[in-house]
Formats: sequence, C-alpha cells, structure tokens
Amino acid sequence: MVSYKELGLVNTREMFAKAINGGYAIPAFNFNNMEQLQAIIKACAETKSPVILQVSKGARNYANQTLLRYMAQGAVEYAKELGWEHPQICLHLDHGDTFELCKSCVDFGFSSVMIDGSSLPYEENIELTKKVVEYAHQFDVTVEAELGVLAGVEDDVQAEESHYTKPEEVIDFATRTGCDSLAISIGTSHGAYKFKPEQCTRDPKTGKLVPPPLAFDVLDAVMEKLPGFPIVLHGSSSVPQEYVDIINSNGGNLPDAVGIPEDQLRKAAKSAVCKINIDSDSRLAFTAAVRKVFAEKPGEFDPRKYCGPARDEMTKLYKHKIIEVLGSNGKAE
Ligand code: G3H
Ligand code: 13P
Ligand code: ZN
Repeated sequence: MVSYKELGLVNTREMFAKAINGGYAIPAFNFNNMEQLQAIIKACAETKSPVILQVSKGARNYANQTLLRYMAQGAVEYAKELGWEHPQICLHLDHGDTFELCKSCVDFGFSSVMIDGSSLPYEENIELTKKVVEYAHQFDVTVEAELGVLAGVEDDVQAEESHYTKPEEVIDFATRTGCDSLAISIGTSHGAYKFKPEQCTRDPKTGKLVPPPLAFDVLDAVMEKLPGFPIVLHGSSSVPQEYVDIINSNGGNLPDAVGIPEDQLRKAAKSAVCKINIDSDSRLAFTAAVRKVFAEKPGEFDPRKYCGPARDEMTKLYKHKIIEVLGSNGKAE
C-alpha cells in the first residue's frame, strides 16, 4: 500500500471546491508517454495551474500502469525543479470499469479514481460506485462517477446515441453513492469526430462544420438539484482546425473532424463544471507537429527531432487551454 500523500500528490477535494467558488475549471489531461507528461508539467508550472493527470485503460495497456505511476511521481519532482514551489498534481484513473482496478490504483498511489458505471443499469451503477467510494474514502482518495452516456466510444463501451443525464436522478445517485464528483452527458463525446456532419451546419465561407450547442439546460437543471456539487465534462476537446489542416495537408486524412467550440467550454468552466477532460487535442497537436517535420525533412530519423517539436506544440496547447479556456492559471502558486 502506497499513499499518494507520500508521493506529493493531492486528491481533487480542495481543487474542486476552489474551482467552483472561483468560477474556473481544473484541466484533466491524459498522458501516455514522457513527452505528453513533460509538456503538461511544463505548461502547468509556467502558469501555476493545478492539474489532474489522467491514466486511461488505453494508456495502461500502452505504457504499463506501474511505469505511468512512477512517471507521475517523477512529475512532482520535475515540477519543483521547474520552480513550481507547491505543485498541485492529482493522479487520476480515467474510466475505471471494475472495483478491482480502482482498488489497485488506490493501493498503488493514485489520489483519485473514476468508476464509470454509466453503461450499467442505474441500480448496478449505484452499487458499483458505492463499493468503490467506500474503499477509496478510507484512504482519502476521491471518486468520480458517471451518469448518462456520451455518444461515441467510451473505452470499450460503444454508444451510438448519447443519453443525456437525467437531472431527476442526480440527487438520489450522489446521495446513495457518496461520490465526490459527477461526470454528466450534455452533448460532448470522445475523440475527434464528436458530431456527424448531419448534426452540424456548415459555415458558408469556410465550408467547415459548425456543431450544435451543448445542452446547457441539462447542466442548469443538474446544478439546481445539486447546488455546489462538482460536475465533470468528458469529451471536451475542441479539435482545433489548424491542427486538422496541418495533418490533412501533410499526408493525413481526418475528414470532417469536429470538436466542442471553446466558447462553450469557457461558459461551462465558469459554472459548477470544475473538471474538463482533454485528450484528443493533445493527440492532434502531436500528430500535426510530427507530420510537419516528416514532410519538411524526409531524411530525419532521430525521434528527438520530431518528438521535440511535438512536445513544444503540446506545451503551447496546454497553456492555451489553461489560460484562455479554463481559467486555472495562477490558482496553484
Ligand atoms: O476517454 C477516453 C480517453 O481519451 C482515453 O482514450 O483509452 O484511447 O487512452 P484511450
Ligand atoms: P476528448 O476525446 O474530447 O479529448 O475527451 C477525453 C476524455 O474525456 C478522457 O476521459
Ligand atoms: Zn472520458
């Protein structure tokens, strides 16, 4: 048993309370490799932003859970080396799907876990979430749960249609499970294709897709039922068109990729939404930078020469999200 407190990590409780009161959101960035982690920590150290480092099932399969945990431990020391005196870094399991997995993360030094029972029948979601909460809280590890289903791919769960969170269920769910935060479905979804072209309109000038707005009425109704309760938005990448264009003009093929407009996320960040999950945008920044190097310098074969620019581009992206979208800069001096 390793306590996250010994590793210099923090849970989400205080982060979320401050974010709700302060009208900003904490960035939750996924990481799978060293370059992503370096870019996240550099961006957060330079902006003094609290951060949630997320480890998904895909990341665990790709990079190994043990290695990722030691990398997060190293990230705390790296942050201090960069001059960030009091780093506020949370290590979070993204989309945990079993009690055993959540337990193993709690036992191994994670400071927060998500139990995603959103694909289960309501009562089973409650039962599983409650079991995880009862275990995690013994060690002061915070727990995120999910109610409602996002469209697209939720790890192994394929949801053709999203099912918005039902506001009438949230009080019962939060009370009976004891969860610390709740991920809700209001129209966001995972990946770079968040909406089908037929769900969008087209900008007549650029020909680009304009997505439909998020269901802020559902968010408002949830906030009315659970005043001051921490709400989480998954699937919140914006799919920047400049990255899509760089990728497509350098040999890539991402037709009609579309994300959540940043003005909608800015609006959400000012509400009880205090954790905003971003993964795909980092993948796009990385891929755009790598494709550009390969197109411009076909003779390059030193990975540092293309992973380095990719890391710089991701740092730029993370700083942009922190300062221009979430407003979490300067909240962890
Ligand atoms: O929730 C989805 C995240 O973007 C993680 O995706 O399982 O491919 O790592 P992944
Ligand atoms: P995006 O695919 O929109 O980046 O969402 C990531 C996410 O929700 C991770 O849990
Ligand atoms: Zn997610």
